[in-house]
Amino acid sequence: AVRLRVREALGAREPADAVRVQGWVRSVRSQKEVLFLHINDGSSLESLQVVADPSLEKRDLTFGSAVEVEGKLVKSPHRMQNMELQAETIRIVGPCDIWSFPLKMKERHPLEYVRQFPHLRCRNNTLGALLRIRNEATAGIHSFFQDNGYVHVHTPIITSNDCEGAGELFQIEVRREAKESAEKTHFFNVPAFLTVSGQLHLEVMAGAFTHVFTFGPTFRAENSQSRRHLAEFYMVEAELSFIESLQDIMQVMEDLFKTVTSTVLSKCPQDVELFHKYIAPAQKSDITHKLFSSSCRISYSEAVEILKQAPQTFTFKPEWGCDLQTEHEKYLVKHCGEIPVFVVNYPYDLKPFYMRDNEDGPQHTVAAVDLLVPGVGELCGGSLREERLPFLESRLQRLGLTDAYQWYLDLRKFGSVPHGGFGMGFERYLQYILGVDNIKDVIPFPRFSHSCLL
Ligand code: 4AD
Ligand code: MG
Repeated sequence: AVRLRVREALGAREPADAVRVQGWVRSVRSQKEVLFLHINDGSSLESLQVVADPSLEKRDLTFGSAVEVEGKLVKSPHRMQNMELQAETIRIVGPCDIWSFPLKMKERHPLEYVRQFPHLRCRNNTLGALLRIRNEATAGIHSFFQDNGYVHVHTPIITSNDCEGAGELFQIEVRREAKESAEKTHFFNVPAFLTVSGQLHLEVMAGAFTHVFTFGPTFRAENSQSRRHLAEFYMVEAELSFIESLQDIMQVMEDLFKTVTSTVLSKCPQDVELFHKYIAPAQKSDITHKLFSSSCRISYSEAVEILKQAPQTFTFKPEWGCDLQTEHEKYLVKHCGEIPVFVVNYPYDLKPFYMRDNEDGPQHTVAAVDLLVPGVGELCGGSLREERLPFLESRLQRLGLTDAYQWYLDLRKFGSVPHGGFGMGFERYLQYILGVDNIKDVIPFPRFSHSCLL
């Protein structure tokens, strides 16, 4: 027998004899003259209907069990589906005790319920759809950059730099019992951390390849109780040499968003539809809107003015020089008509040392850009980097970081070029396109955010 994935069987053009399908039973319906099964193997949202003689029914053939079915693939008489499998043999590979199995047949379990079973929730339609979408989006991100001439770089996960300078670092140390000598304070002789961003390493490579990107795990010791923060998340980062304006960066952000989103839409339309139908009904058909919607661009100073004139009162009073809070971001997006908003030119003192001074006053603003989107807030953050040695030197000196960043200053001594880049939070991207409220529902495993750790 020829082994077929469910997706292949469903999409087959021609009937076929001697076909074998393996998967998990999603439904069992036994009638007097016929036994119906639905088999799913994760290759598609839709399950394959199996039609069998009732004599093939066994006690162990239950919802959730793993089976191998052999038979004939025939055109289905049902309008809703193309092909079905007429079973000749059904082998139970792994039985499933339906009484203790937390997922139930034909129930649409709420996300909060399945979150309790991180090891089983991928057998549920919603998580299945999410994982296929994550998979296509990941591939889409790599293709986007590869097709546009970027070189992929594996930036380190363990590093000694604190790129963002925000003090949200997880430090790496050897377990106390395993330490060889009490004298050695750090395993690497210097403090080492889990990366908060691959940017500085990308800047090194942008000094030789002009267009580089990385897409990997990123760690921040942030309050992971929020619905948009994770301690471990994936970040896509791009760095481009020989660019002189924020517009160039904004263009890449937009192209990346549109290309990846249309890839996801064309590769797994049914999975996306499931989210729009059952998870965020208000957003139905909105993904195409998101794809083609225009965006708006305002400066940080304009943003603060808009907030000051808002008819509502904020918990955090808007003030020039202060960070934009979630409530502020929300208001700005609403003010602009619920479309993506680029906010540019932030206060110098608010942003990390690497951002380029706009020279619009003594250390007044830097060439930074954040992309805010409806329902999520900040999706991307980027900037032009300070490529001028004297500017960077004096800023690092004031921060007392000159020694630590000697290598970074070198990049400005040897063939420095204007450059810039950005990072996009992958989970926030998924939240946005799918309309998912809690960031914990767009990751495969609820990492360190749950009592049941894997
Ligand atoms: O704005 P951020 O902090 O930018 C950087 O780290 C730059 N060094 C990137 C660069 O220019 N190469 O982070 C970038 C994005 C944010 O806009 C947000 O989408 C996401 O990463 N992000 C998080 N996502 C989930 N959980 C968290 N705790 C996040 N922190 C940031
Ligand atoms: Mg940011």
